Amino acid sequence: MNTTHIYLHPEFTIAPVDQRLFGGFLEHLGRAIYQGIYQPDSIHADENGFRRDVLAALKPLRLTTMRYPGGNFVSGYHWLDGVGPKTERPTLNDLAWCSIEPNQFGTDEFLKLCRLMDWQPMLACNLGTGTPEEARHWVEYCNLPAGTKYADLREKNGSKDPYAVRFWCLGNEMDGPWQIGHVPAKEYAIRAQQAAKMMRDADPAIELIACGSCTVDLPTYLDWDHTVLEQLGDFADYISLHRYAENKDGNLPEYLASTRGIDRQIEEMDAVCRFVQARRRSSKRVYLSFDEWNVWYRTTGPEFTNGRGKFAAHLLEEEFDLADALVVAGFLNSFIRHADCVKMANLAQVVNAIAPILTRGNELLLQTTYFPLLMAANRRKGISLQVKVDGPGYETEKFGAVKFIDASVILDGNRLNVFLINRSVEEPVPIRLECLGRIKEVFSAEVLSGPSAVSRNSFENRNVICNRPLNLVHVQNGAAELTVPPLSFSAVSLDLV
Ligand code: AHR
Repeated sequence: MNTTHIYLHPEFTIAPVDQRLFGGFLEHLGRAIYQGIYQPDSIHADENGFRRDVLAALKPLRLTTMRYPGGNFVSGYHWLDGVGPKTERPTLNDLAWCSIEPNQFGTDEFLKLCRLMDWQPMLACNLGTGTPEEARHWVEYCNLPAGTKYADLREKNGSKDPYAVRFWCLGNEMDGPWQIGHVPAKEYAIRAQQAAKMMRDADPAIELIACGSCTVDLPTYLDWDHTVLEQLGDFADYISLHRYAENKDGNLPEYLASTRGIDRQIEEMDAVCRFVQARRRSSKRVYLSFDEWNVWYRTTGPEFTNGRGKFAAHLLEEEFDLADALVVAGFLNSFIRHADCVKMANLAQVVNAIAPILTRGNELLLQTTYFPLLMAANRRKGISLQVKVDGPGYETEKFGAVKFIDASVILDGNRLNVFLINRSVEEPVPIRLECLGRIKEVFSAEVLSGPSAVSRNSFENRNVICNRPLNLVHVQNGAAELTVPPLSFSAVSLDLV
């Protein structure tokens, strides 16, 4: 295979990489909360009932923001059901996942967990069956000093000081016909505007995320966003987008090219934001919050109702392979390349439900998709650089021509952090990386690859796919040369003179 040339210039920057791009999402869904994060009867439970083993596995990923409590769940959720003495909290039917919800984990438990894990909470309010006023009361409960009804309730429940929750989602996927309380764009926008005004009046410091199009596949794609942004005006700080990549037809090269689809979705959503900003003659730019993203296609459809009448059912427990991990890395590359307009992103989700971590009884498994996140965790600070990739590639049906190498680069002081996906199914790709002749030495280099696209880790065989050192990265005459294996993700840190 011909060499792929990558050209960089430290002055050709895109934007600082917002660390909130590396957030997560925890929903009351299947075993994400119960038996995932929270399991008081586990041998791993701490004094709060949180599973120490799960938290220890999440810690190295250095997730920044954590979205909660849904997802589809939130559109039928009343936050008051989840606060106060646990014995007095109601057990309810959750309509989103057809499950039994005992409300043993709620706002105070989640916010305590965020403190423990150093996560910035991102709460989604219920704009399905909830009222704008209920959302405003939740802001009061979380953020206002004691002295009024809901702030006093927080104090009574054990938290004297306000939690200062800064990020609030105005509902979840309200454009989706599956959503509880789904309404047309105009109606959602009015509801969201009413909520936004009261929530912001309660606490002017909060930042609000409007529900944008949750998939490119609905007929309302982009029209929805246009309507919502026009109506919300300056109340919207961000608009959300979601994406779950899939390989239902088993076409690997096409699947690996989904990164192009992610790029395109981001650029289209940003275009609507810029269009509405210009039409409104507003100086305020609305940024993108990619607050649900992942690979997810094996456990969709009829599986949704498997929880009927059950508590903590096995739902959406997707088992990921090497190809999925490369697509997850592709999401990260795309976010970094679009650091100028995407400011937040949340992996959906973090444990058991569509997650890099699975629990089974007292055991825990790190799935393939854990590793790209881990490899990026200590390499993601800095400024995203424009990346010129010149090399061979292939044609796809949905995404046109793609290169074998998909890349993103972050400049952190004098260090280049380079992320490289090799989409070639069979061939290693030689790469030459240039940055004005200034590359001095290799600081570190790791690779994720494996025997085949469908290789995965299991409880029986845990270390099939994990990050390993990438050898043979050479620096010569100020440029770096390396060869990346087929179907791989590499993270290479290089120091500049
Ligand atoms: O993450 C699983 C589900 O995907 C969420 O509940 C919903 O928002 C999306 O459709």
